[in-house]
Amino acid sequence: QNVEIGIVGSGSMGGGMTMLFAEHGSVVGCFDKDPEPVKKILKTAEETDSVDNAKVHGFSSLEKLVNAFPKDNSKPRIFVLSLPHGKPVDGIADELLPLLSKGDIVIDGGNEWWEATERRQKKAEEVGVEWVGMGVSGGYQAARRGPSMSPGCNNPKTYETIKPLLEKWAAKTKDGEPCVEYIGPGGAGNYVKMLHNGIEHAHLSILCETRGLLYHQLGMSNAEIADLFESWFKDGGLRGNFLVGIGYKGLRFTHGDGIDDEGGIVDHIEDKVTQDVDLSEGTGTWSTMEIATRHVAAPAIAASHQLRVISADKGERLKVVENLKMPEPSKSDKKVDPEFLKVVEKAVYGCILGAFVQGLDIITRASEDQKWNVSLATCMRIWRAGCIIQSDAISEFLLPLFEPFGPSKPLNILQAVPEVAQALRETYEPIKQLYRVALDTDAVAPAIAATLEWLKSVGGARLPTDFEEMELDYFGHHNYDIVGQTEFGHKKGKHHTEFAPA
Ligand code: 6PG
Repeated sequence: QNVEIGIVGSGSMGGGMTMLFAEHGSVVGCFDKDPEPVKKILKTAEETDSVDNAKVHGFSSLEKLVNAFPKDNSKPRIFVLSLPHGKPVDGIADELLPLLSKGDIVIDGGNEWWEATERRQKKAEEVGVEWVGMGVSGGYQAARRGPSMSPGCNNPKTYETIKPLLEKWAAKTKDGEPCVEYIGPGGAGNYVKMLHNGIEHAHLSILCETRGLLYHQLGMSNAEIADLFESWFKDGGLRGNFLVGIGYKGLRFTHGDGIDDEGGIVDHIEDKVTQDVDLSEGTGTWSTMEIATRHVAAPAIAASHQLRVISADKGERLKVVENLKMPEPSKSDKKVDPEFLKVVEKAVYGCILGAFVQGLDIITRASEDQKWNVSLATCMRIWRAGCIIQSDAISEFLLPLFEPFGPSKPLNILQAVPEVAQALRETYEPIKQLYRVALDTDAVAPAIAATLEWLKSVGGARLPTDFEEMELDYFGHHNYDIVGQTEFGHKKGKHHTEFAPA
């Protein structure tokens, strides 16, 4: 069959990629342990005019897929895995690697933990196979139309081999530039995708908190909020923001699976966000773990994940509701006029920008620790289109600011890029005003609150932690430094007072 690309895993992402690659002229072989999704893909290929169905082949055996590539060995065999992370990928790696030969390339396109990729890279290298850990963003629709991709692998020549294909498949900016670039060695590609998702979590939370305030506290209808979000999507700092864009379209849906309501389907959707992977895993959990282990301040990302955790088990939550008897969130008496809505827009822009800064600071820290040489400008370029956190502000504001920096720099954006600090500063009062609505009405807005506290603390010349340091020294011999005599840097203090001599 002269297969050129093998897709392993035929779920919605694998299926979308099969169609996309075939549409771009490659002969694709798709494999899944379950024959049903493979049959579905073959049927879709038959029914899709833009796809030559002679270019799509289905396989229920991995061995048959491997043998369907040309026999001349002139080109590497290329496989794209689209599987849930962890054990399923290990299982396929165990089956696939013995069937491959030197020079073949396996691209794992799932949301994988970066160290798992590095472990597999070592295993693959033993048989001369190159293993690429590649983030694929934009959901199943982008997998079909063109995603944003973040590949990482140890041999840059491997990237050169797959580059023409990836560039063909990738989402394109308005200027036609492909949203894919080599990220770095090892698990760097997975890492960047993981933090893309961490930032995505924060953006999702900021937007749901804002929509909640506008709807429940400020009394706007879903239709009015949809119009407002549409205006943000079309003009201003939130222009082209993907989540704002799908937000206003979603708010206008009045008929959905199991729901019919002229007021909008959103009010009938249960207020719980679960995750379909093991709770100790997944990109949100991993991002939050990295915040702690890399010692980077990213409270909006952490808070948004926490809100998701709190929301997930509604049964448990309702039991706590009975015991805590919190005040019902009330209506705000704030006047919703165009001037205030401008303030809200600015506040949302500030929170969204803050989450970018937090996520990028983690990426740069990890890149420095792991010696990956990840460039923030590269991240900005691949996030211009196709992915979930895409927004015009990336190409128009952030990219030009990061372009002059080399890899793994700037290590602390608010310190090294005054333009970003200034832009955030301008949103401080608006964020305060938006958060005040939540504060006055007992409404839930943790990512907005976390952004506000983050700005106050990272920009605070004098924090309340003097008292904490004193207490720590009191009971823990923690030591402290004396105001005005501090040597800067993360160093233990030099002084100790015996507060309670034995
Ligand atoms: C993307 C998305 C995607 C993500 C889920 C969110 O970039 O396309 O980030 O990769 O995993 O859509 O799902 P969970 O947060 O539940 O993993």
